[in-house]
Amino acid sequence: MGDPLLSVRDLHTTFPLRSALLRRRVGAVQAVAGVSFDLHPGRTLGLVGESGSGKSTLARTVIGLERPTSGQVLFQGRDLAEVGAREMRHLRRDIQMIFQDPYASLNPRRTVEQIVREAWEIHPDVVPRARWAGEVRELLERVGLDPSHAGRYPHQFSGGQRQRIGIARALALRPKLVICDEAVSALDVSVQAQVLNLLQDLQRDLGLTYLFIAHDLSVVRHISDEIAVMYLGRVVEQAPRHELFARPTHPYTQALLSAAPVPRPWDQPGRARILLQGDLPSPTDPPSGCRFRTRCPKAVTRCAQEAPALVERHGHPSACHFAEPLTGVAP
Ligand SMILES: Nc1ncnc2c1ncn2[C@@H]1O[C@H](COP(=O)(O)OP(=O)(O)OP(=O)(O)O)[C@@H](O)[C@H]1O
Ligand SMILES: [Mg+2]
Repeated sequence: MGDPLLSVRDLHTTFPLRSALLRRRVGAVQAVAGVSFDLHPGRTLGLVGESGSGKSTLARTVIGLERPTSGQVLFQGRDLAEVGAREMRHLRRDIQMIFQDPYASLNPRRTVEQIVREAWEIHPDVVPRARWAGEVRELLERVGLDPSHAGRYPHQFSGGQRQRIGIARALALRPKLVICDEAVSALDVSVQAQVLNLLQDLQRDLGLTYLFIAHDLSVVRHISDEIAVMYLGRVVEQAPRHELFARPTHPYTQALLSAAPVPRPWDQPGRARILLQGDLPSPTDPPSGCRFRTRCPKAVTRCAQEAPALVERHGHPSACHFAEPLTGVAP
């Protein structure tokens, strides 16, 4: 398959936990606790997990907004912790991020044209100044916006259109890797589908690579080649998307899939429902052994003593001592 574009190796990102009163360090939040994966050019890795599982922290560590406590982020084989300032500037162009709330990340006092071309002021060698206006129009057209609206302000657009502005801005530097952090989560389902289709068209036309983050499996399902399921800072299962949906082996994945809404429930009368008990434990004090055990219907004594490694079990990596394929659980 060739070399990966992005490799994450046993990545840990820990935040100090300070007491409100004395600002003394009283503990640590293990937001990302040993994540590894490879992402190949032109592919999409979907990353799912409930709120607080560490998805955004992982993304922020990959683009250098957080410092890893240990482990490595390799982009095109280069360890991001070891590159100099000059090379880092270059790499920063190659990795762009699209956020959940385009409104919060778009400056309300700048026109769409100013927003899209902003990055060229910082990276003047990407597009010559004489080409800026033309390039903005091309980018707007590419993301499905009317180029004659380049002089309008963000509040003059709908939520879906604003997300398209965010996408145009991310594409302005001609990145190789685009990290979409809950990029469509705030949109209505029909608008979500349109933006997902746009992202897929852009991937095909521009050869983009995506790390696509969402808390909802149904969102990552169609866009991902491969899906990694995160729980409390760790990946618990990773598989090609068809395999993940057809034969999930980790009890957490099985529970997530069984909880997904079914479009035609009468077609699947016997579909298993697995209910998760309780909330996500705190990442400041994760359970011993398997982090999922406190909510797992299969948990036994061994699970409290021995953390299961993410290794091949029944055809793809799964971090459960008792991994077992379960069919008929996904809608
Ligand atoms: N700067 C920070 N300082 C301290 N703790 C943090 C910081 N950023 C994140 N955390 C904690 O790290 C854990 C993971 O948070 P993160 O935002 O990465 O989760 P997430 O999977 O993106 O959740 P969501 O689906 O809600 O976006 C949470 O417990 C969060 O409170
Ligand atoms: Mg997040």
